[in-house]
Amino acid sequence: MPLVQHLLAKSRVAVDLDLEAGSDVAMNHTELQQVLINLMVNAVQAMPEGGRLTLRTRRDTVDDRPMVRISARDTGSGMSPEVLGRIFDPFFTTKRSEGTGLGLSISRNLVTRGGGTISAESEPGKGTEFTILLPVFDPGGQAL
Ligand SMILES: Nc1ncnc2c1ncn2[C@@H]1O[C@H](COP(=O)(O)OP(=O)(O)O)[C@@H](O)[C@H]1O
Ligand SMILES: [Mg+2]
Repeated sequence: MPLVQHLLAKSRVAVDLDLEAGSDVAMNHTELQQVLINLMVNAVQAMPEGGRLTLRTRRDTVDDRPMVRISARDTGSGMSPEVLGRIFDPFFTTKRSEGTGLGLSISRNLVTRGGGTISAESEPGKGTEFTILLPVFDPGGQAL
């Protein structure tokens, strides 16, 4: 949060934190931080008139494996199915000057390397929700 505080202060975006996973994940701290900053910057950019960004963490189970689910939901512009289908492609951007189109491509690579997945659902005019699933870290040395 401190790293995006300046951006948030300039925007009319309210942030809700609903963080209940309470578990460590098997992903590099700095890399996960980079992924979350990417999602927050994208969300703020999708809400030029302001809106709400909800960050949520929960424990989950996928194929009997304990996971942490992190979601970032915004009330922004949303995306058409055509755009949604390309957002993880390198250099795909709908932003003219602000965008490199690399944020989500790099984010997916980092999350995949951490043994997880990242996906998005979106409705034009309503908003977007990104979901990251990561294995819970097992202090015994392996991802459980
Ligand atoms: N929260 C969001 N709401 C609406 N569109 C989004 C959101 N996040 C990403 N996008 C779309 O995905 C594209 C790719 O995002 P990204 O890889 O971060 O590149 P960039 O932000 O540089 O354009 C964006 O240009 C935008 O069209
Ligand atoms: Mg971006």
